[in-house]
Amino acid sequence: MTAPSAAPNAAPRGRLSDLSRVWVLEMRRCEPVTAATIVNVGGKEPDGTPSAIGRWTFETKKVRDELLPHVRGNVLNAFAGKTKLDVNGADIVRNDINPERDADLHVDAATLDTEFDERSFDAVILDPPFDQTQSDEHYDGLHARDMGDVRKAVASLVRPGGEIVEFGWSMWGAADYFDGWTRDRRVVFRRGIPDRQPVFMTVDRNAQRRLIE
Ligand SMILES: C[S@@+](CC[C@H](N)C(=O)[O-])C[C@H]1O[C@@H](n2cnc3c(N)ncnc32)[C@H](O)[C@@H]1O
Repeated sequence: MTAPSAAPNAAPRGRLSDLSRVWVLEMRRCEPVTAATIVNVGGKEPDGTPSAIGRWTFETKKVRDELLPHVRGNVLNAFAGKTKLDVNGADIVRNDINPERDADLHVDAATLDTEFDERSFDAVILDPPFDQTQSDEHYDGLHARDMGDVRKAVASLVRPGGEIVEFGWSMWGAADYFDGWTRDRRVVFRRGIPDRQPVFMTVDRNAQRRLIE
């Protein structure tokens, strides 16, 4: 059997066609596909309490169950809201721009890098208002003007090996923007009514090595 002759515009053997090259570049830009944990939220807990995600995200037990394993060591809760995360052994600093919230400091999360030394925390939690409507309806119009600025500010505060746990309508996070960060986990909270947008939790790790001192 004779081999089929090469298409007239095929790339020479060993070289990528323009189309393949574009595809490879796109693939590099994409996150590798790895598993996500899918958690259904909505309805009620066995004891009758609501399990839907509401204004105070961490009041929902199914959310806490996913989050708490990452709350270890020195932790900065940058959009603290109302819910206290009482975790044995963790030392948690609470920040919320709203002075009415019970917090250790009340500053814009995008300026947190001016409040602490670099590499002060094992974990930073980001649970901002997810959009302007949420902010207007539930958080007195307070919001983060640019999550890119927030991620940049808090990334410098995370120790090598430490994590940023981010909640939102999307899976964008530190690992998408900064060299030396990896995406360790992604959780999809699928909400009760099928056409409701899911809530995502991403866990990004500062994978940079510590310099030998
Ligand atoms: C989704 S709520 C956090 C809920 C919290 N995780 C809980 O379970 O109670 C968002 C919080 O971020 C605060 N906030 C809004 N803009 C902020 C900003 N730029 N910097 C810091 N906190 C901000 C709001 O006041 C609100 O309490």
